[in-house]
Amino acid sequence: MIEQQHVDNIAGKIRDLGKEPTRLGDVLAPFLGELAGKASALAGPQGLLWLDIRLEEKAMTDYKQFLLKAGGEEGTLDILWNNLIDEDLHAAWLANKLKDLQALTPKH
Ligand SMILES: [Fe+2]
Repeated sequence: MIEQQHVDNIAGKIRDLGKEPTRLGDVLAPFLGELAGKASALAGPQGLLWLDIRLEEKAMTDYKQFLLKAGGEEGTLDILWNNLIDEDLHAAWLANKLKDLQALTPKH
């Protein structure tokens, strides 16, 4: 729900500014393809957490780029900062869960 709200807020802002937003799938597909091979190094829930963390990091990198390009448009800056902080919290939460799972997994 939080991520959907991010998408809706940004899409609304882009439309307010007179443009049509890019489809999220079109943006993420190449990145997901690139990650898929690497994620298989970690099986099951750990692989999924690892992939989720990469996606949050990708979002944070993109938000930082957008913040640099947004100029002084206050409504846009508010949305970008709000989303960036959410993604940082998500990444930290996911990284903690991955660490917990790894601590429970016997080492070979
Ligand atoms: Fe997120």
